[in-house]
Amino acid sequence: MKELSVSHLLGIKYLTTEDIELIFETADHFKEVINRPIKKVPSLRDITIANLFFENSTRTRLSFELAEKRLSADVVNFSAASSSVKKGETLIDTVNNILAMKVDMVVMRHPNPGAGIFLSKHVNARIVNAGDGAHEHPTQALLDAYSIRESLGSVAGKKVAIVGDILHSRVALSNIFALKKLGAEVTLCGPKTLIPKHIESLGVHYEPSLEKTIQWCDAVNMLRVQNERMSMIIVMHPGPINRGVEITSEVADHPQAIILDQVQNGVAIRMAVIYLLAAKIK
Ligand code: CP
Repeated sequence: MKELSVSHLLGIKYLTTEDIELIFETADHFKEVINRPIKKVPSLRDITIANLFFENSTRTRLSFELAEKRLSADVVNFSAASSSVKKGETLIDTVNNILAMKVDMVVMRHPNPGAGIFLSKHVNARIVNAGDGAHEHPTQALLDAYSIRESLGSVAGKKVAIVGDILHSRVALSNIFALKKLGAEVTLCGPKTLIPKHIESLGVHYEPSLEKTIQWCDAVNMLRVQNERMSMIIVMHPGPINRGVEITSEVADHPQAIILDQVQNGVAIRMAVIYLLAAKIK
């Protein structure tokens, strides 16, 4: 069986192109599974996974939980809002208490960049980063690139625009790493104040004009767009969407928008990630 080069999923930055392709091939299989009448496989019957959410989430949390249950893992959920974190417990103490209950894998969303990296150095479990501050959101980028591959046939050679607040977006950074590793051309578009300095060093272009960006791209991610090229490009958004703010209802509900396909692909991608990391449990 092919294996990932990493023991944790902390960021797209740490994956090889072969890792991403292996996740996609594995997700292809699980996508077929989750569209069967019986959506469950026994692959992770002996594995226990804790979902630790120190920050709000709808899509990522539900998607991970579904992915874990469809792989037959035992699942425990933790939300900071209703936990002893509120009484002053540290992250390491919280996680070590959970691990003492024999947990094999931790899926964590945390407001601090690098929280998953920190955890992976201090606890004996596979760690999956479900979003760490403005740093990375690797499974979102994997499901975004997977959705482009599904809609456009491949990612290599495609022109992808990421529009909006790039500076504060973990989705944008993970997307840039994933798209570049897979051979796409990437243009960022947004007000200069919301674009990180020296971002071109990651091999991406910056274009301030939304009109020019839309004319150029095959896919556009997380954005407020106009209708001109709606029949030629696919429109993506990681969610949650703010109707009337960065995206109009007309665009969000347009047939070329693949926002809910992204959500569906999220389950298959997360099943693939969990399944491949479970093979690394010693
Ligand atoms: N796309 C995304 O991460 O959504 P949630 O914050 O709802 O998980």
